[in-house]
Amino acid sequence: MKFCILMASPRPQGNTATILASFREELEEWGSSVDYISLYKKKIKPCIGCRVCQNIFDGFGCPQNDDMQSIFNQVLQSDCLVLATPIYSWYCTPPLKAALDRLVFGMNKYYGKKKGPSLWAKKKCALIVTCGYKVEYGADLFEQGMIRYCKHSQLDYLGMLAVRDKGKVTAEDISRAKEFARKLIPLTRCRVQE
Ligand SMILES: Cc1cc2nc3c(=O)[nH]c(=O)nc-3n(C[C@H](O)[C@H](O)[C@H](O)COP(=O)(O)O)c2cc1C
Repeated sequence: MKFCILMASPRPQGNTATILASFREELEEWGSSVDYISLYKKKIKPCIGCRVCQNIFDGFGCPQNDDMQSIFNQVLQSDCLVLATPIYSWYCTPPLKAALDRLVFGMNKYYGKKKGPSLWAKKKCALIVTCGYKVEYGADLFEQGMIRYCKHSQLDYLGMLAVRDKGKVTAEDISRAKEFARKLIPLTRCRVQE
């Protein structure tokens, strides 16, 4: 099984990165392959709503020239997309939001001259989130947005690991990250019912 992690924290030693390192280690320990993409190191322009991609059914079709084409390819080659982000203003950080906008149009060809396919239909999607507030108040709106995003995109939503920022990542947080990885592996293997 192949996981594609989009890492959207600007802090390489921060809470999200620390939790993600254990999550990734556990995935690899159990034989999964992982593509790890640090979005703050990439050039990702915002979607400009030109809709050129909507009439190109066999690929990304975005006319903008940046790192999104290769991110699109890596997402398409994976079985499960993992979005890891700190919560900023009740949602994900800006490079992940830009990537999500580019993918929701580049992957879902719903709004062209003819209605087209979702190129990533039936792939899995999971979230890893850290936030300052209690998770019910800090991470709920992003999760709701992503559940709707997955439904629209025909992605199979697998769940969220949400960890509150307590000043330092605890041993319990690390063990929850590993447990989350072990939970996702069999869920990623099983096919969605036709
Ligand atoms: C600009 C900014 C905005 C934030 N907005 C929120 C927020 O809306 N809700 C929340 O619960 N935490 C918020 N936080 C707290 C972070 O989500 C939290 O500290 C997180 O663990 C930081 O992750 P990192 O260590 O990977 O950078 C915000 C932090 C920053 C820097």
